[in-house]
Amino acid sequence: MKLMIAKLPGDGIGPEVIDQAVKAVDAVCGRFGHGVSYSPGYVGACAIDKFGDPYPAETHALCMESDAVLFGAVGDPKYDNDPTSKVRPEQGLLAIRKKLGLYANLRPVETFPSLADKSPLKTELVQGADFLCIRELTGGMYFGEKGRLDNGNTAYDTCIYSRAEVERILRLAFEYAGRRRKHLTVVDKANVLESSRLWRQIAREMEPEYPDIQVDYMFVDNAAMQLIRCPKFFDVLVTENTFGDILTDEASCISGSMGLLASASIGEHTSLFEPIHGSYPQAAGKGIANPVAAILSAAMMFEYAFALMDEGKAIRDAVAASIKAGVTTEDLGGTASTSEVGDWIASYIAQNN
Ligand code: IPM
Ligand code: MN
Repeated sequence: MKLMIAKLPGDGIGPEVIDQAVKAVDAVCGRFGHGVSYSPGYVGACAIDKFGDPYPAETHALCMESDAVLFGAVGDPKYDNDPTSKVRPEQGLLAIRKKLGLYANLRPVETFPSLADKSPLKTELVQGADFLCIRELTGGMYFGEKGRLDNGNTAYDTCIYSRAEVERILRLAFEYAGRRRKHLTVVDKANVLESSRLWRQIAREMEPEYPDIQVDYMFVDNAAMQLIRCPKFFDVLVTENTFGDILTDEASCISGSMGLLASASIGEHTSLFEPIHGSYPQAAGKGIANPVAAILSAAMMFEYAFALMDEGKAIRDAVAASIKAGVTTEDLGGTASTSEVGDWIASYIAQNN
């Protein structure tokens, strides 16, 4: 197969972790006999600096004509403390999600046995936790009407969802639950929010179509508690955009480091694969960023964009081996640099035919 990948490293630690993901992709393609090409594009703060636009038209064109997007991170502190700034790097990520129609964000949470003690939670709680968070990604408060009233002294954001938007993400969640342990948890705030009541109504209507799936409903405040009280309860968790943003950061610490969690964003056009950790500007250029989340995002790319499951597994096995061998960055207690971890994983992939 010939893979055409749009490479969007973005800002902060994005470029250095994406470099490591590329090493892993090259190693897998070499081993399995695939051709691969990377077309670089700008997104985020670096795109604002160059084009005045966090998601320039040329980057969008590149994504549309590629088979998959490998994405690093966006964000720069120079925008964070200026609430009046009209253009922000994060708008690049929101624009790419919206324009590619990436309505589903899949964030798997898995644990590595040798890292159980790195989790802030008790080992017996986290060992064996394995669930998939499905976050709606193109609706809700992120994209609803927002504005200022009262000379700028009152502000609002609207959480709005249509039946079609809710149905497509719930359908995907039912399908994924069907391929896993057949347990779906729908997370909402239906005791207070009208949009949540629509979610729950639609989920209840769909239940009879999936008789083999056990569905339960959980309010988001309770879900925030249950995620750390008993993470093993969950199999597939589905929720709206803002709740999903918050809960997946919370869930990321179950495995021991945010630097381990990968994600896939899928929908209408080209799928996008990205580590969930963000641009972590304090670490940029220091060689201390954990590349595992980016490398596992590349594994998800093989599995979700190309249905190349053995290739994805080759990357996962190499990552697991690196962790077992203690070849890790300092967030996991190791002493290896970002590129040392990347090199180790790539050579493991290449050697273990
Ligand atoms: C994420 C990030 C983004 C979000 C930001 C950078 C816009 O936090 O992917 O979770 O809020 O969706
Ligand atoms: Mn987030």
